[in-house]
Amino acid sequence: MMHHLLLFLFLLSPNLVGLTAAGVEVTADLDNGADINELCAGCHGEYGQGGSEGEYPRLAGQPESFIIAQMHLFRDRKRPNMAMLEYVDERQMPDQDIIDIAAYLSRITLPTRLPPLKQGAEFDALARLEMTRKLLNIPRIEGDFKAGEDLYRKECQSCHGRDGAGNHRYGVPLLTGQYSNYLQRQVEKYRKGVRIHDPEDPTDRLLNEFSDNELHNLFAFLSIADDP
Ligand code: HEC
Ligand code: HEC
Repeated sequence: MMHHLLLFLFLLSPNLVGLTAAGVEVTADLDNGADINELCAGCHGEYGQGGSEGEYPRLAGQPESFIIAQMHLFRDRKRPNMAMLEYVDERQMPDQDIIDIAAYLSRITLPTRLPPLKQGAEFDALARLEMTRKLLNIPRIEGDFKAGEDLYRKECQSCHGRDGAGNHRYGVPLLTGQYSNYLQRQVEKYRKGVRIHDPEDPTDRLLNEFSDNELHNLFAFLSIADDP
């Protein structure tokens, strides 16, 4: 067991989340993060893999500055989330706890497939079981994948990354490996102004520019972008 593993994170560019000043050094306690995760697991799963087909989003592997920013938005009621209100209350969840749980969750990687069993190698049933439970491969949505990819490359890749894995440095969330239903719901929230897509430019209406069909193809592409 690791005890009080301290790590120093340099949140290099806070520009997109506007939370921490440039170069601010934060110390995260991953053991405390693991303890807090027991609260979150009831909805988001033991490994932050989300659940109920995207009613609860995947949190594993999200940039820590993104998780931190969302927790503060929930607490300040700038992003409505009835389900989580009681968990983000200042007394329940001091700022340091938010940093710790964000650091813990952002370090979890979820496999999209099980590695083949090696001939002759000893079978570790427990490790295999754990990997099976972490497995997350978003079900494929049918659509025009090529059109979706073209749109993604042109309009989203610059921030969400070439493979849609997000951008840890700038706190941009992952889109591949996230539940399609969840992404769709969030895009609707941005389109209605319930959430703000670009904190640097709150009046930006990028997501309102696309037809439902274009968005459908985009989600189809994202659903297969990390397929093994
Ligand atoms: C009672 C269920 C519940 C619990 C417990 C819970 N959450 Fe959530 N959480 C939700 C729901 C529902 C959403 C999605 C809200 C929406 O659709 O906008 C969410 C969204 C989030 C998001 C936004 C993710 C994204 O990609 O937009 C973060 C971050 C998050 N939760 C972190 C946590 C953490 C950390 C904990 C533990 C301290 C936690 N949650 C506990 C229900 C829960
Ligand atoms: C200028 C950079 C930028 C571009 C371009 C961009 N995004 Fe984003 N996106 C962000 C940031 C930053 C966030 C987090 C904002 C927040 O706090 O809600 C985000 C959040 C999202 C989310 C919510 C994910 C979650 O887990 O809550 C979705 C869905 C999304 N973007 C879709 C898209 C799509 C689709 C495109 C292309 C059509 C796109 N974005 C282009 C920066 C960008």
